[in-house]
Amino acid sequence: MRDLTDVGESEVTQVEKIRLGSSELMVTPICFGCWQMGQTFWGKQPKDTLVEAVHKALELGVNFFDTADAYGDGEAERILGEGLKGARRERVVVATKVFHHFYEDGSRHPDLSRDYILWECEQSLKRLNLDYIDLYQCHSFDPYTHPGDVASAMEKLKESGKIKAYGVSNFSIEQFRLARTFGNFTTVQPFYNLIEPKGETDLLPYCLAEDIGVLVYSPLMRGLLTGKFTGEEKFEDLRGNDDRFKGEKFKELAGRVRNLKPIADRLGLTIAQLSLAATLMHPAIHVVIVGTKNAKQIEEAVGAAGKRLNIADYHAVRKALGT
Ligand SMILES: NC(=O)c1ccc[n+]([C@@H]2O[C@H](COP(=O)([O-])OP(=O)(O)OC[C@H]3O[C@@H](n4cnc5c(N)ncnc54)[C@H](OP(=O)(O)O)[C@@H]3O)[C@@H](O)[C@H]2O)c1
Repeated sequence: MRDLTDVGESEVTQVEKIRLGSSELMVTPICFGCWQMGQTFWGKQPKDTLVEAVHKALELGVNFFDTADAYGDGEAERILGEGLKGARRERVVVATKVFHHFYEDGSRHPDLSRDYILWECEQSLKRLNLDYIDLYQCHSFDPYTHPGDVASAMEKLKESGKIKAYGVSNFSIEQFRLARTFGNFTTVQPFYNLIEPKGETDLLPYCLAEDIGVLVYSPLMRGLLTGKFTGEEKFEDLRGNDDRFKGEKFKELAGRVRNLKPIADRLGLTIAQLSLAATLMHPAIHVVIVGTKNAKQIEEAVGAAGKRLNIADYHAVRKALGT
């Protein structure tokens, strides 16, 4: 395996980094999404291919990686840890998540209690083979734990140097406001893409006003916004149970995405790159987390970094998608 400490600055393509809201984290706007490493929902991926994709990301200058303890009950963290072995620690920003208390027999339940967060953070650190986590996120809102307890655990982890910053994912604006009355949650990770641009009237304006770091997930709508589907495909992974990937709905969505082709061609981008670049045009959105299975996919995503559309092209994209 290549020793990544040998990758000198000159060999690393410089993708411009941005500050993630009011946090101290400097990240690339393209983040490597690691759900696909979990070996469960997205089917089995060869470990070597995943590790190679992480190496490719580092070589291309991507410094931001998003994973979760829940992705394959720790497996995605372990594989990411392996991929990052040998990388200079200060060069990478690792985000992971906590929410489900999970057990070896596969059962799980929500648990953001103080003790569980403190314990689970240690487990994530071991799996990732790291001394600290850059961004520790609540994967979802736990209605049965007082938000003050969650914040107190996060602050303790920060004080002890085990995490650098903390944030949330899948919180409504009300839940996020509540959390912020108890702690300095500096980032949100919501679902957002150009076919289902959720949060544009509430969460995103709030984040903009409060200088919250926003990293959106499913920016390619699980692959649909790459334009590679006709609407006839059948899936054995989680998309097989997703109504947006079945029947007439799937054909209709695939047709809308095909409308992007002339715009992408004119701008010299692929449909995936156009989708990511257009998503990053939203003033509240700092980062797109791109779910990645191989080196080719992260390479294509990186091609969207730094590509600004003019406002007419942006609206042409939204119109082509009917949103
Ligand atoms: N916080 C949360 O609750 C939450 C939820 C979901 C995801 N996430 C995070 O966000 C990341 C991304 O979200 P996501 O995985 O739901 O969706 P996504 O990024 O919209 O789609 C990922 C899928 O798109 C396809 N793809 C990616 N790049 C491609 C390329 N260049 N060419 C062709 N196909 C490509 C791959 O699927 P195929 O190759 O199989 O077609 C990949 O599995 C996850 O990995 C995870 O880190 C967080």
